[in-house]
Amino acid sequence: MYIIELTIENSKYINEAAEILRQAFPHSYKNSAKEEVLECLEAKKVLIAAIEDDILIGFVGAVPQYGNTAWELHPLVVSESYRSKGVGTKLCMELEQILRNKGCLTIYLGSDDETYSTTLSQTNLFEDTFRKIENIKNLKKHPFEFYQKVGYKIVGVIPDANGMGKPDILLAKGISDK
Ligand SMILES: CC(C)(COP(=O)(O)OP(=O)(O)OC[C@H]1O[C@@H](n2cnc3c(N)ncnc32)[C@H](O)[C@@H]1OP(=O)(O)O)[C@@H](O)C(=O)NCCC(=O)NCCS
Repeated sequence: MYIIELTIENSKYINEAAEILRQAFPHSYKNSAKEEVLECLEAKKVLIAAIEDDILIGFVGAVPQYGNTAWELHPLVVSESYRSKGVGTKLCMELEQILRNKGCLTIYLGSDDETYSTTLSQTNLFEDTFRKIENIKNLKKHPFEFYQKVGYKIVGVIPDANGMGKPDILLAKGISDK
């Protein structure tokens, strides 16, 4: 497996990336996965992909925010049959290296809990916010735990971002080498 920076010319990989995205998030990208991948390839954004046997098996994108010092990670997805083999970790590590070289200090992201997959769902997050964050439990393999394993910290929540009791969980990682 190796990592490449995806470019607009590579329509085979773009189609494969769109298919992985559609399968992972059918409710969001059923009819718009390719448009989403193409958006990730716009100027100044970064999109890197993991390739095995000439097939795209995962990718991660990032968007510059706050000038260039903080970048938003969006999206990250690994093809279902290649999960739990370290591909997501490799993509995150490679992305860090690329963004560090661009002057990024912090990478951040929002990871929605729309399926009651953590203890931050179905509760009033305007009360005891930080205690609830500190005591978060994973109920149904929510990816926040993946991000924690690659060094991200939960830095906040957007209560009810996806409907009552369905928050967005905000994670961030400092990548400065100073
Ligand atoms: C989240 C995702 C990108 C992780 O990629 P991956 O290649 O499977 O991750 P890795 O194999 O590098 O896993 C690294 C560690 O995180 C853990 N992990 C991965 N996904 C996890 C999850 N959903 N819940 C809990 N732990 C998880 C792995 O078990 C592994 O732990 P270990 O080091 O103790 O063995 C992948 O599962 C995926 O594409 N999921 C669907 C899309 C998605 O949720 N994207 C993120 C949206 S914010």
